[in-house]
Amino acid sequence: MRLDKFLSETGTATRSESAKAIRRGGVLVDGVAASSPSMQIDPERSVIDYLGERVVYRRYTYIMLNKPEGVVSATEDGKDKTVLDLLPEKLRRLNLFPCGRLDKNTVGLMLLTDNGELSHRLLAPKSHVAKSYRFLAESEISDEDKVALETGVYIAGGYRTKPAKLALDEGRLGGVITIIEGKYHQIKLMLEAVDNKILHLERITFGSLTLDEGLARGEWRFLTEREIRELESHGRN
Ligand code: URA
Repeated sequence: MRLDKFLSETGTATRSESAKAIRRGGVLVDGVAASSPSMQIDPERSVIDYLGERVVYRRYTYIMLNKPEGVVSATEDGKDKTVLDLLPEKLRRLNLFPCGRLDKNTVGLMLLTDNGELSHRLLAPKSHVAKSYRFLAESEISDEDKVALETGVYIAGGYRTKPAKLALDEGRLGGVITIIEGKYHQIKLMLEAVDNKILHLERITFGSLTLDEGLARGEWRFLTEREIRELESHGRN
């Protein structure tokens, strides 16, 4: 693989940044200054340092996106903009897909990856991966409704939801709800089951991941090494 391609695919630098760094002798391949951006390297074996930092090669790409309203969590859609449309061209070529779904009008944390095995593991019902959502409801949530939502309510098809956790704001109109499953429209249906309605829904955590407050809606970043390690270790212990 070309050195500049490697640096761009690992999210280290753009092609023009790489070219500049290489000209200045700032990129080392196996300890020796690289001579050209087109130099061939072995992503699995070559040791690459970029401006003094070791570049860790990852077989997979992991992206955290702050999903805005109005985009769908799919890889393609005939009508609507998808979460992948929010990424730059070079990343759209990587066969990334959203790990799980959020409704079109739900905002917040979305993981995009090309690691099918991990995605499958995180989404499997038996994994019980916790997801937290900040929500705003139409009417106040009584103590009785809180208990019902936490112990389980009946939603579509007579399904009873698994235990959930609710932390209500002072006004009891909103708060944070944490669930360990992911049925279609689950939180909206749970609120409907107690004669209420969701007005706004934002996912703030997904397993070990927490939405980066530095990301505005529609913005994305690569996961950090630590975030990847924590995510990959899920279900392995
Ligand atoms: N529950 C919902 O109702 N919608 C979402 O997008 C996610 C969870």
